[in-house]
Amino acid sequence: MGEISKKLQGKVAIITGGASGIGEATARHFINHAARAVVIADVQDEKGHELAESIGLDRCVYMNCDVSKEGQIKTLVETTVKKYGQLDIMFCNAGIISKAEQTILDFDQTQYEKVFSVNVLGTAASVKHAARAMVEGKVKGSIICTASVSASMGSLQYTDYTMSKHAVVGLMKSASKQLGGYGIRVNSVSPGGVATPMVCEKTGMEAEEVERTFESSYYLNGVLKAKHVADAVVFLASDESEFITGHNLAVDGGYKQS
Ligand SMILES: NC(=O)c1ccc[n+]([C@@H]2O[C@H](COP(=O)([O-])OP(=O)(O)OC[C@H]3O[C@@H](n4cnc5c(N)ncnc54)[C@H](O)[C@@H]3O)[C@@H](O)[C@H]2O)c1
Repeated sequence: MGEISKKLQGKVAIITGGASGIGEATARHFINHAARAVVIADVQDEKGHELAESIGLDRCVYMNCDVSKEGQIKTLVETTVKKYGQLDIMFCNAGIISKAEQTILDFDQTQYEKVFSVNVLGTAASVKHAARAMVEGKVKGSIICTASVSASMGSLQYTDYTMSKHAVVGLMKSASKQLGGYGIRVNSVSPGGVATPMVCEKTGMEAEEVERTFESSYYLNGVLKAKHVADAVVFLASDESEFITGHNLAVDGGYKQS
């Protein structure tokens, strides 16, 4: 691999759901691109601390933050601004999927509420508090949300998850209009299937097996990795996308819609 350019030089970022999977890959990638500091916000304390240590505590810290609790997000953002002086990038990436299949005939409201509290309310509160800090600090920041291929099509199962990701795109598009006047950009990435711990746990399969299963769902040959999503997030976080807002960027190899 050639030398990575420093697309995020000097920038301060928060990544929710940053301890694992796509968030973890993005945390490493932000640092590779010379981000000044990356704050990993998650509920998996051990994994989060280990990741921050492996990246280097001079530029990376872990903070416990349950995104379904707005007060915790407010504290996360305030602590970040206090420690590093400003917030340039907010990657709202924390997300969960229901344990049950959630087909409409067996739709479970309790599980739906849990999914929505993290994927939708958690993302809205993350966008809100990041945007407030950017407005206050007069920072022309970039906010990126993780949606999904599920945000633009129906699904045979996981109805609540699919609904939640459609909502994330609605949130992103609305916030982009409201924040454009402040110079704050809001976009989303929509990954296809990536063999992260979430998916491996959900399917009960090892990563290689998950990747083999997903391979036939892209038009491009090969395997979609968390790193590919991280590349797209770096682009949206960087000045290379300085006139792009309200955009939902698919990272799915040309997903074959069923
Ligand atoms: N893996 C895929 O195939 C895929 C595809 C499309 C979209 N996504 C989305 O990507 C995002 C990242 O998922 P992933 O696949 O990397 O899974 P993952 O489980 O590896 O990572 C998700 C992280 O979010 C954290 N999290 C969960 N609830 C939280 C909460 N309340 N507060 C803070 N953190 C919380 C988890 O602890 C975990 O570290 C999610 O929004 C997911 O919906 C994943």
